[in-house]
This record gives sequence, C-alpha cells and structure tokens, in this order.
Amino acid sequence: MLASSVLRNATRPTLRLLPKLQRRPLPAAYNTSTKLFDPSISALGYQGDELTEQEVGVGVQGNAPVKPPGADFGRAAMPLSSNVYPLLTPTLNKFTLRDKVAVVTGAGRGLGLNMAQALAESGVRGLAILDVQQDIGDQSARELSRQTGIDACFYRVDVRDEDEIHETVQSIADRFGRIDILINAAGIADSNIKAETYPLPAFRRLLDINITGTFITAQACAAHMISSRRGGSIINIASMSGSIVNFPQSQCSYNASKAGVIQLTKSLAAEWAEHGIRVNSISPGYMDTALNRVPALEAQKKIWVELTPQKRLGGVDDLNCLAVFLAGEGSGFMTGADCRIDGGYTVW
Ligand SMILES: NC(=O)c1ccc[n+]([C@@H]2O[C@H](COP(=O)([O-])OP(=O)(O)OC[C@H]3O[C@@H](n4cnc5c(N)ncnc54)[C@H](O)[C@@H]3O)[C@@H](O)[C@H]2O)c1
Repeated sequence: MLASSVLRNATRPTLRLLPKLQRRPLPAAYNTSTKLFDPSISALGYQGDELTEQEVGVGVQGNAPVKPPGADFGRAAMPLSSNVYPLLTPTLNKFTLRDKVAVVTGAGRGLGLNMAQALAESGVRGLAILDVQQDIGDQSARELSRQTGIDACFYRVDVRDEDEIHETVQSIADRFGRIDILINAAGIADSNIKAETYPLPAFRRLLDINITGTFITAQACAAHMISSRRGGSIINIASMSGSIVNFPQSQCSYNASKAGVIQLTKSLAAEWAEHGIRVNSISPGYMDTALNRVPALEAQKKIWVELTPQKRLGGVDDLNCLAVFLAGEGSGFMTGADCRIDGGYTVW
C-alpha cells in the first residue's frame, strides 16, 4: 500500500528541473522482489512534471509464488509437429531444437517458465524444470507436458545446494540419456536497500543464489556435456544491472551479482569451448514479471518506463526467441557473448 505523503524533493533539485526527456541522471535497472528488511522504502516518482518522493509500505513477501501458480503463461504452449521439419529451409531448421534435452532453472514462473515454454515449442523432447518452489514448479511441468506432449518433469531443488544439484542433474541424464541445453534463470533480487546498511547475510545470500547457484548448475550439466562428447549450450540469465547501475533503487548486491554472472559466462565459455560447450548470457532490462506487478513498485516503474526508449517494460516472453536461438545450431559460432534485451534502456 502506498503509505505516506509526497515530499518535495529538495535533495535532488537537478532532477526536478530537468525537462522530461533529459531527466536521466543515472541508468536504472530492474527489481523483482519486494524489500525484505525495512517496512517501507523511499520510492521516487512523478506527479505531473515534478519529481516526488514517497515512502512506500512493503509487506515482507520475498519470492512468494505467483497466484495463481502458472499465471505467467501468456498463452498455452503449442506442440511442434515433426512433419514440419522436412518443410523448413536449412536456415529455419537451425532455429529448431529437434530431439534435444533441456534443463531450465527458476522455471516455476516468470522468464524461466516462458523460456521453457519456448524450448518446448521448438522441438526439445525432454525438459527438466528446476525450482525451489514445489507448487509452481509442478504446475509448470504438468502444463507444458499436457500442452505439447513432450516429457517435462519437475525437480524441487535449491540451486545453492551442490549435492542436490549434482544428484538432480544425474537423474535428468539417466532419464533422458543426455543434456544438451541449460538455461540458468533462477535468481532473486533485493532492492531498495542502501549499501551502507545492507545486512551482510542478505548480501551473501543473494550472491550465493545468483552467482554460485549459476556456477553449480553449469558445472553439473557441463560434466555430462563433456563426458558425452556432444557439447551443449548454456545460457545464463544475467541482467543489464551487470553493466549499469540502477536508478532510483539501491541494489548493490544484485548489480554485483549480475556483473559476476556476465564474467562467469565469459570465463566458462573460454574454458569449455574445447568441449564444444557454448556459454552465453542474456541481460534483460526491466521486465514485467509477477514480482514487478506489485503496488509498492508502481512509482519506480514509471521512472523505469520513462527511461526506456521503447516506453514499456519487457514482456515475460520477450527473451524467448533469443533463448531458442542461443540454444540451437544457429548460434554455433557464438560463445562468451552477453546479449541485452532492454527496450533500448542502455543505449542512452
Ligand atoms: N524481471 C526482471 O525485470 C529481470 C530483469 C533482469 C534479469 N532478471 C533475471 O531473470 C531471472 C528470472 O527472473 P524473473 O523475473 O522471472 O523472477 P521470478 O522471481 O518470477 O522467477 C525466479 C524463479 O527462480 C526461483 N528461485 C529463486 N531462488 C531459487 C533457488 N535458490 N533455487 C532454485 N530456484 C530459485 C523462484 O522460485 C522463481 O520461480 C532472474 O535471474 C532475474 O535476476 C529479471
């Protein structure tokens, strides 16, 4: 609930005085989670042409499940008939993922779920969804399986748990006989926490999930890709926050974590190229995922939209086609790349 009154922002006079299109003091990025530690946040917004500041009351929600689970499906998934392949040109064939097996972390909802759907529509025969949330993970796998007829299964795991991840990846390899694609989409975001008061356990937890979790899952899947001698494609979901600093919200841990994911991606690409494994990252801008759809973020969202040349947030399926491209043969000479999808946010 928006709590308190609008304050005239005496501390940021330059912001208020700038004309609309030049009102761009700092780059901004995204926030999915609500603030975990303070009962309210200071959110900048606009009233007419004037920059204002609001104290926004925020409930402690963390990574609460989307209600209803699966609500992020924009539409039902469509199966890809094998009759289609002979009709495709060689170019279009390289955009398909015929008979491949994919693992997607964080696919209980949001961007991960939508990319999983895109893979399911592009020819994969097996799909493993990994998420820490049982209810939404189960539902995602069940729905994708029902809608496309592919073998989709769900594993409840925390990407920070090395033993659990290694066991899970082994059982995926046993079930499907191979692993060709990994999308690391599991991640969290704390935001509106100032660096000078950032609680260390929270700082560490975020890095542990966003960077170490990405590494653990990549390492476990790469072991199978290497031993099978078939190589594979790993796609890490980073963020434009890995290259720019957010505005107006303070989120140093998230930004540092995503910079780490981008650099981890390049390092793994260099090391695993000899095994035929390609590793690339996708860096989204502000996306309209469930956790951004809360009243507490409305004021900040206006600023994000204002600062994005396309004047909108990204849709939950806006990463899908790039994910399919990076997963498949069409991107065969691409590795170590960080691809931004941000509606133009970072061009300014
Ligand atoms: N939404 C955005 O604006 C945006 C922008 C840039 C980058 N990203 C990144 O995209 C990815 C997906 O974001 P989203 O908006 O879909 O968020 P989301 O919260 O809707 O989905 C993230 C999923 O990851 C799962 N998860 C969280 N911690 C986990 C853990 N320890 N182990 C296993 N699963 C875990 C959650 O249960 C959830 O289903 C994240 O890495 C996020 O940082 C999002």
